[in-house]
Amino acid sequence: MKNTLTIALSKGRIFEETLPLLKRAGIEPTDDPNKSRKLILSTTRDDVKLVIIRAADVPTYVQYGAADMGVAGKDVLMEHGGDGLYEPLDLQIAKCKLMVAAPVQRSKISGRLRVATKYLNITRQYFAQQGTQVELIKLYGSMELAPLVGLADYIVDLVDTGNTLKANGLEPTEHIADISSRLVVNKASMKMKHASIQGFIEHMAAAVANN
Ligand code: ATP
Ligand code: PRP
Repeated sequence: MKNTLTIALSKGRIFEETLPLLKRAGIEPTDDPNKSRKLILSTTRDDVKLVIIRAADVPTYVQYGAADMGVAGKDVLMEHGGDGLYEPLDLQIAKCKLMVAAPVQRSKISGRLRVATKYLNITRQYFAQQGTQVELIKLYGSMELAPLVGLADYIVDLVDTGNTLKANGLEPTEHIADISSRLVVNKASMKMKHASIQGFIEHMAAAVANN
């Protein structure tokens, strides 16, 4: 009997952009997660199922082996840390940059910089490396609002076109990292299901090369 493979994906951008790659690897979900309330989706391959979870939860599911594999943004992986995960393939999707940004018109800041972000670990590490003391303010989204209402001096967030920053009178000030989504694999699954996971990785690598 074939090993069953469970792949964790988040709804929205990652699901949409992973779908064509999976299709080229011969895997198509039999339900549409945008229409179905199901969280476990079967696929056209009876040995592959998809679990649909929040983007930031993907590394946790894979780390604990609740999913054998997953697709997560490098931002999410950097923030989570790499424990229990292999990162064998850059899928070259959902590309953007992780940046520091601030109001275009800003006055000199006295005292400690206040930085709003959902990426506390990355931001703490980044400013520590710069030797800059900052006060971190944890947010869960809409970071661009924080400087407009006096909650923070700077933000650390993802930037793609720059439209969101521009629309809110902000500009990027520093580049932290280039981001794309990665295939991640549970370390124990990699050993126990080596042949099927290796085969999957090879199919996905070929799909990425043709994308
Ligand atoms: P949730 O919806 O659970 O709050 P989220 O908002 O982080 O999570 P998405 O917006 O789907 O979920 O983002 C998933 C991943 O896509 C991010 O972790 C990042 O790697 C990438 N991403 C986010 N925004 C952009 C963007 N504007 N352009 C390209 N890639 C992006
Ligand atoms: C992401 C990110 C920025 C925006 C950047 O948000 O958090 O706000 O994209 O993209 P841009 O530079 O092209 O404007 P997203 O659209 O995913 O919305 P979200 O707040 O639901 O995550």
